[in-house]
Amino acid sequence: MNTLIDIRHDLHRHPELAYEETRTSEVVQRELAAAGVAFVGGLAGGTGVLAHIPGGDGSPLALRADMDALPIVEQTGLPYASETEGRMHACGHDGHTTILIGVARELAKASQAGTLGRPVTLVFQPAEEGGAGAKRMLDDGCLDGSIIGPAVERIFGLHGWPALALGVLASRPGPILACADGFEIRITGRGGHAAMPHLCVDPIAAAAAVIQSAQHIVSRRVDPIMGGVLSITRIEGGTTHNIIPESVYLQGTTRFLDPEAGIALHEGFDKIVSGVAAAHGCAAEIDWHDGYPITYNAPEAYDYWDTVTAEAFSREQVQTMGPVMGGEDFSYYGEQIPACFFALGLCPAGEDSMPGLHHPSFDFNDEAIPLGIKAFLAIVNG
Ligand code: NI
Repeated sequence: MNTLIDIRHDLHRHPELAYEETRTSEVVQRELAAAGVAFVGGLAGGTGVLAHIPGGDGSPLALRADMDALPIVEQTGLPYASETEGRMHACGHDGHTTILIGVARELAKASQAGTLGRPVTLVFQPAEEGGAGAKRMLDDGCLDGSIIGPAVERIFGLHGWPALALGVLASRPGPILACADGFEIRITGRGGHAAMPHLCVDPIAAAAAVIQSAQHIVSRRVDPIMGGVLSITRIEGGTTHNIIPESVYLQGTTRFLDPEAGIALHEGFDKIVSGVAAAHGCAAEIDWHDGYPITYNAPEAYDYWDTVTAEAFSREQVQTMGPVMGGEDFSYYGEQIPACFFALGLCPAGEDSMPGLHHPSFDFNDEAIPLGIKAFLAIVNG
């Protein structure tokens, strides 16, 4: 049998982007079959896998792992570094997938021995990184009992966390990760000769005013207790020194942890973009791209997680954390049933820090694999 570390390193060598996780899905299915676990593959566009392990009459729950990698050139120099140029497991989903395979092995043994107290569904989903693979798994029926196993009553997921020490788990009740929306803006004026600005309508000056005014939205319009982020991350316009361009293109993101803050951000920004552009004689179009919803930990699922993991680890090792402005498609599960998402410490003992998520030098810590398994088993057996 392949060791879990071998599996993790094999997945790390062969990273696949969202909805392209064909090989990864095959590894998952091979390992589930070897463990004697029933599963259905081919979900969520082809690579999603749903496994079911029968157990006693406790309430059915689900555990989730994401499988996709990122378009990053790996710079770890590890012997098991990516063999696919420009693809990398820089978010540790190789670790998450391996942990859930390890959980499947343990639960299969308990199920066969008649000691598993509840049925468990394992969700191996594609495309967490921007592709909303969780939503497609849900649309296929991964929690409602229509594919394999019974309908699920609660779901738990984890993410490797470089800022936390190895051996520490952390979570919080309520919102833990943000809604992350994107926007694109086109500000259109009238181009012409830079020596005759009075005959033009300058979209660059208008864009500058829009960007300046947008800084007031978070500080003046959003409830300071709720907070939020509005970042303009890209600006493109013009070609050379003596031409006023016809239009300017902007791109950016908003992040928020409360739906009311989201409404204030969106409405405030819509008004500023159209109003400020108009004040400068320009027309503006804004396109919003809905991101993942707010990842919300149901208080009862969080309380359960906190109790059972503190018993399995220790009170000191199971901590509360503040919310983070990143987004997660685990949020979609939490819209359907009570859910709890938690952070699994990765930072090696004796180190102050390690490369962060999405960094070309990041590597999931192998020593966190048994700890992730232990946390999931505590949840199942609690
Ligand atoms: Ni991730």
